[in-house]
Amino acid sequence: MCGICGCVFFNSTVSSLELLRQLQHSMARMEYRGYDSCGAAIQCQLRNGDPGIELFKAVGSPSETFWPVVEAGVDQINPALVQPIQLGMGHTRWATHGEAGVRNCHPHVSSDKKEFVVVHNGQITNFAQIRNYLKAQRNWDFYSETDTEVIPKLALYFYEQTPNATFPDVVEQVCQVLDGAYALIFMSTLFPNEVVATKCGSPLIIGVKSDSRLQLSDCRTSFKSDNAEAEYRMDEPNHMIYKPSDTKSKPKVQYYFSSDRPALGGLTSYCLDLHDFDIAHARGNGELEISYKYPGSIADRHLKHQEFDQVSEEENIFSCKTEQEIHQQRATIESAVRGRVDFDNHAVKLGGIQAYLHEIRRTNRIYMIGMGTSTHAALATQKILTSLTNKSVSVVQATQFIDMEEPIAKTDLCIFISQSGETADTKAALDYCNQAGALTLGITNVVGSSICQNTTCGIHVNAGVEVGVASTKAYTSQYICLVLLGIAIAQDYFSMKDQIREIIDGLRELPMKAEEVLNHKQELKELVELIQERQAIVKEGMTFNTDKSNSLYILGRGYQYAVAREAALKIKEIAYMHAEGLCASELKHGPLAMVQENFPVILFALNDQFKTHAFNAMNQLVSRGCVPFLVITEGDELELENNFKNKAEVPFHFVLPKSTPCLQGILAVIPMQLLSLYLAQARGCNVDQPRNLAKSVTV
Ligand code: F6R
Repeated sequence: MCGICGCVFFNSTVSSLELLRQLQHSMARMEYRGYDSCGAAIQCQLRNGDPGIELFKAVGSPSETFWPVVEAGVDQINPALVQPIQLGMGHTRWATHGEAGVRNCHPHVSSDKKEFVVVHNGQITNFAQIRNYLKAQRNWDFYSETDTEVIPKLALYFYEQTPNATFPDVVEQVCQVLDGAYALIFMSTLFPNEVVATKCGSPLIIGVKSDSRLQLSDCRTSFKSDNAEAEYRMDEPNHMIYKPSDTKSKPKVQYYFSSDRPALGGLTSYCLDLHDFDIAHARGNGELEISYKYPGSIADRHLKHQEFDQVSEEENIFSCKTEQEIHQQRATIESAVRGRVDFDNHAVKLGGIQAYLHEIRRTNRIYMIGMGTSTHAALATQKILTSLTNKSVSVVQATQFIDMEEPIAKTDLCIFISQSGETADTKAALDYCNQAGALTLGITNVVGSSICQNTTCGIHVNAGVEVGVASTKAYTSQYICLVLLGIAIAQDYFSMKDQIREIIDGLRELPMKAEEVLNHKQELKELVELIQERQAIVKEGMTFNTDKSNSLYILGRGYQYAVAREAALKIKEIAYMHAEGLCASELKHGPLAMVQENFPVILFALNDQFKTHAFNAMNQLVSRGCVPFLVITEGDELELENNFKNKAEVPFHFVLPKSTPCLQGILAVIPMQLLSLYLAQARGCNVDQPRNLAKSVTV
C-alpha cells in the first residue's frame, strides 16, 4: 500500500522547514494508504555548509509522529535556508516487507552518501534475486528487510557502470530490472536539483503550479517498435517538456508528485496522470520532461484542470473523522442523487453511463465485483438489481472471482465497486474482464482513480474524501448509485414504472430519514452497555472451551443480510471485537450451537417480506434463553409486544423509520456504524486508524 509524494519548488521562497511542512501535509492526506510509519527526505544545506540530503523517519502516522522527529533532527540542517530550488519527498507506509520500524521506513538510500534516495509504493516481486545479485557483485550490506532497498542500490550499481548516464537514464535501467508494481520518486546527491519519478502498476500523478504560463513543447520522435516487447523497451523514447514561457523573470514553478489526488488538495488544481513506464524528470531550469514509451498520445499526459476533493474543514465537533463521516451521510446521500434523479417525473439520468445504456441493456449477465465493504454494497443491492434488470446478477469478491477463473463473455456487464478505485485485487479482476472483452463499469469515489480510467463507463459516488479507514459514507453512496443504475437500466420498460416510482419517492425522503436515525445516539450507547454487560456475564459463567465473551452475532435476511455482514465487518475492524454477520436462516445449520443465555445477538426484523422469518429466528433464540436485541421498523412495535406474554419481556429494540424495502438497508446500516463507533470508543480503540489496516489496499 503506502503513499508517496514529492515536491520541487523553483524560484520560491520556501525554507527547508516549510518544505517539510508541505511534505507532511501531503503525507497526512494519504494516511488512508497506510500510517504505521513515515519518512521524508529534503535537499538542504547541512550545518557544515555542504549540500546534502537529510532524512527524517518516524514510527507512527505522518500527522502524529512525523513533526516531533523533524524538530528533534532539525539541528542537522539550516532550517531557514531558502535556496533557488527546493526538493523533497515523503512516504507514509503500510508495512508489507519487514516490521514497521525506523529501519524499514522510506526513503531508502543506496548508501550513507545518499547517491540515490527513493520512496516507493507497490511491491517488487523479484527483490530477493536483485539483492542476491548485488551482494554477489558488490558485497553491499542491506540495512532493511524491505523490497524497496534494492532500488537505490540498483541505481548506484548502474550509475557506477555508466557514469555519464543522465538521472533518467539510470532510473530507466533500474526499471528494466524490476518486476512487480511500483510508483517511485528518486532524488540524488549525484544529481542535485533534480527529481525523477516513474511508475508501473501503481498510480502516480503530477500536480503543477506556476506563475508563468507553462509552454508545452512536443519533442516527439518517431515511434519505433517491431513487437510488443519493443514498445516497452524502445531506444528512442517519445518525450514532452513543460517549461515556463518566460524564464527571464525567474517565474515560480512548483511540481508536486503524489500517489493520489487528495495529497494535492489545497496545493494546485492542475495535474496529469503518469502512465506505466513514463519517466518524469523535473530539473534545475524549471522544466518537467516526460519520456514515454507506452503507446499513447501527448494528449493523455496533458495537464487537466481539476478541483481536488478537499478533506472537509467543517468545524470539528466530532471526536474523530469516522464519526464526522458517519454524520455527513444526510449530505452525501443528497449528493449521490443530486442532478441525477428527476423526482417529479420519476426518472434517472447518469451522465457517466448514458452513452452505454443501450449496450448495458443488451448484456446477458451482471457481475458485481469488489472487496470488503464495497462487496457488501453489491450484496445489499443484488436483489433490487435482479428485479429491475431481469438479469442474473452475481456478487463476487474480486479475489474469488480470479481464483475461480470465472468464464466471462463479451455479453457480460462487470461492475467494479471501489471507494478508492485503487484496490489491487479489484483492479486485477478488472484487467481480467477487460481482457475477456466484457463491458466494464466502475463505481468509485475517487475521480481519476485507476478503476475510473480502466473501465468503459462509470458512476462517481460523490461522497467526498473519506479519511476514516472504515468505509461509512462511501458505502451508503455506493448503495444508492447501484440502485440508480438499476433504475436507469429499467426505466424504459413500462412494467417497471410502479416499482421505479416507489423507489424514487423513497429516495426523496431518504436524506431526512437518515438524519432522523443519526439522532438516536443515546439508544445506541445504551446498546453498547448492554452488549458489554452480556459479554461480562458470559465470561463469568464461562466453561471449558467456550470463550464467547468477545463475540456478537448479527442476523438479517433478504435485504438485511448485507447489513448484518457490513455491521459485523465494521465492529471487527474498529472495535477489535469478534462479530459475525449471518443470514438468519443459517442459525439452525450450525451457528446456534454457540448460543446460550445472554449470548449477545442483534437481529434485524424489519417490515419487509422477510419479517416472518426474522421473527421465527427470534423465537428460536428466545426458546434457548437468548433474547436478541432487535432492529424493527416503526409501526411494528405492537406486533413485537404481542410476541411476549408481558411488556417486561419485550427485548431491547431499536426502531427505524420506514422506507421502501430496497432502501431500508441504508437506514439500517447507519445505526450499526454508530454502534461500532461507540463500541470502539468504549474499548479504547483508535477509530480512524485501526491497527494493521490501511484505507487503500493497493497490494
Ligand atoms: C472496510 C473497508 C474495506 C474496503 C475494501 C475495499 O470498512 O473499508 O473493506 O471496503 O478494502 O476498498 P475499496 O472500496 O477502496 O476498493
